[in-house]
Amino acid sequence: MHAETRHEPSRYTNTRKNVMATSQRNGYEGPAARPEVEKMHAYQAPLEGRRQLLRLDFNENTIGPSPRVVEAIKNIPADHISIYPEYNGLREAFIRNLNSKKESINLHPEQIGVFNGVDAAIHSAFQAYGSQDNYLLTTTPTFGYYTPCANMQGMKIMSLPYEGNSFTYPIEKIKANLVSKKPKLLLICNPNNPTGTRLNAERILDLATLAPNTLVVVDELYEAFTGDSILPLLDFDSTPNVVVLRSLSKTAGLAGLRIGFAIGNDFVINRLNRVTGPYDVNSFAVTAALAALADQGYIDEYVSNVLHAKDWISSQLINSGKRHHIDGGNYFLLWPKHDPCKIEQSLRNEGILIRNMSDKPCINGSIRVSIGTKVQMEQFWNVYTRIDIHEL
Ligand SMILES: Cc1ncc(COP(=O)(O)O)c(C=O)c1O
Repeated sequence: MHAETRHEPSRYTNTRKNVMATSQRNGYEGPAARPEVEKMHAYQAPLEGRRQLLRLDFNENTIGPSPRVVEAIKNIPADHISIYPEYNGLREAFIRNLNSKKESINLHPEQIGVFNGVDAAIHSAFQAYGSQDNYLLTTTPTFGYYTPCANMQGMKIMSLPYEGNSFTYPIEKIKANLVSKKPKLLLICNPNNPTGTRLNAERILDLATLAPNTLVVVDELYEAFTGDSILPLLDFDSTPNVVVLRSLSKTAGLAGLRIGFAIGNDFVINRLNRVTGPYDVNSFAVTAALAALADQGYIDEYVSNVLHAKDWISSQLINSGKRHHIDGGNYFLLWPKHDPCKIEQSLRNEGILIRNMSDKPCINGSIRVSIGTKVQMEQFWNVYTRIDIHEL
């Protein structure tokens, strides 16, 4: 509420202040939202003040998008801003891009949904499929946005922990719950953020076949770093209950523009579109996406740099003897000797951001570090070892 009023014009702010004073006098703060929403808190991520720092906290691309994307944005004419966005050709460009990576599964444009980031695709899956009487089945710890989306719909949540020190996917328990709870939604983050757990595509297909009335959402945000996609195996005619999510945030470096895709059976994509606004994706994102999709070479090179840096940091971690976990994705978990909150703060003081995972089930006491280029990993490792081993 305060942040909102701070940015408003003063006349409005004054009016608003008066309204607030009156409402506080009467004890009436405003109309209550749906009961499910009243029970929630706004989703919070530590997103401010990150610009000048080495950002290893959100698994973003750490070097920026292709120069062709920047050029395309610079060349946007004024009328592109004043008219509503047009999406012609975008779905086709996305399919061409998938095929260029040999993922060809003979897709057609109706099988592609375009969203304001994969976050919006996730939100629409819950809006279209989730309701009070049914379950979300998922794992823990996993990507943090699934739970609030389920809560908004008033769904019951069954989240099963990853197993053992290598955080294996709890496949048998998932199968048992698919049968007993008949969830409306099964969310699989593959590879999982933050444990990096990889689930074989055939096993995902088995799960989908076992529960044809469950929508199986496969969040493949980080598959480019490990190549575990289910897409090459999918036939939406025989498995219409699977939807795959892909984003241009992490590899192509478009996180700030917000664009993501859902790939599924026409029927399912149509249901997701029903709960999405007609112009939710803006023109800048469309222009940037077309340029990024046409420059797969840039993305491939970035991914290859990250994988090289991953090998390097992995050997440092092994040699150090520190507890760590590095698997799928462009991130790893590390258990510092000292309190992760202090480590987080000390690294921030040195200009490096990481994510503190202290409060997360199964991985308590760890930090999650995104993997960028080798130079960036060296910078992190030099500072981290100095702080955790010698200073604190
Ligand atoms: C597993 C996972 N899914 C979805 C998202 C959101 O992606 P987007 O930026 O496309 O909204 C993230 C972002 O961190 C993520 O880690």
